[in-house]
Amino acid sequence: MSICYLDGSYQPLTEARISPMDRGFLFGDGAYEVIPVYSRRPFRIAEHIARLGRTLDAVRIPNPHAAAEWETIVGELVARNAWVDQSIYLHVSRGPDERRNHAFPAVMRPTVFLMSEALVTPSADVLASGVAAVSAADFRWARCDLKTTALLANCLLRQVAIDKGCAETVLFRDGFLTEGAASNIFIVRDGVLLAPPKSHLMLPGITYDVVLELAARHGLKHQVREILEDEVRTAEEVWLTSSTKEVLAITSLDGRPVGDGRPGPVGREMHAWYQEFKNTVMRVG
Ligand code: PDD
Repeated sequence: MSICYLDGSYQPLTEARISPMDRGFLFGDGAYEVIPVYSRRPFRIAEHIARLGRTLDAVRIPNPHAAAEWETIVGELVARNAWVDQSIYLHVSRGPDERRNHAFPAVMRPTVFLMSEALVTPSADVLASGVAAVSAADFRWARCDLKTTALLANCLLRQVAIDKGCAETVLFRDGFLTEGAASNIFIVRDGVLLAPPKSHLMLPGITYDVVLELAARHGLKHQVREILEDEVRTAEEVWLTSSTKEVLAITSLDGRPVGDGRPGPVGREMHAWYQEFKNTVMRVG
C-alpha cells in the first residue's frame, strides 16, 4: 500500500481527497519536485527544496514550509513506504478557492501533497541499447525554468515520442537545443561534452548539475554553450538526464542513428561515474 502525505496527514494514497475547487486542479496552478531516494536517502534534497522555493517565489505561492520541515516530511514519507529506492513526488498548489477566478484568492491556503513510488531506473537492457527519440519544436511558455504542475505542453510533446514508439522528445527552439519533454539533453562532439546553458527556456536539472560536476571532477572536457539543432543531429552521442532516468543514451533521433547507433564511450563512462557517485554518497555510511 502506498502512503501519501496530504495537508499534514499521512494516509493511504487511495483514500486521499482534494477539492475540485483546488487551483492545482482548475488551473494547473502549482509547483512540484521529483526527488529520487536511494537506500532510503533522498538524493540532493537541499537542491530540490531550494528549486521548489525558487518556483514558489516566482509564481507567488507562499512556501508553506522551511527547508528543515520539508526534509522532515520527506523523511517521514520515505520511512512509511516499503521501497528501499523511491521516487518522491512533491506538489504545492495555490490551494482551493470558493469560485473559479483567474486572480489569486485574497488568502492563499496552499495544498501540500507528496506521494511515493518505487524508483525504477533504466534496466541493464535499456542502458545497453539506449533509447529512441524524436524531435519537435518547443512550443512551451517562456518560463520553462520553473517546475510548475502546468505540464500540458510537456505531456503533448512527450506523447509525440510515445506515438512513434520512442522514449523522449528532444526540443528545439529557434534552431537551438533546449531540453527534452521531461529531461535535460547533453551531446558529445569531438569527444567534448556540450550542455546548453541554463536560461528561462529550460529546467535547471539537479541531474544536469551532477553531470557537469562529475565531468569537472574526472577531467572530462566539457563546455556549456548554446547548441545548434544541426550539432545535435550530427553529434557522436546524445544523452538525456533526469532524476529517474539518471544518464541515458539516445541512440536514434527521428529514425536516424546517433553516432553508430549504440551508446557511446563518453556516455557509458558518465553513467559509471554517476553510479559510483550515487553508491558512495548514498548507499554507504
Ligand atoms: N522531470 N527538464 C524537464 C522539462 C523535466 O521535467 C525534468 C525532470 C528535467 C530533469 O530535471 P532533474 O534532473 O532535476 O530531474 C529537465 C521530472 C523527473 C518529472 O517531471 O517527472
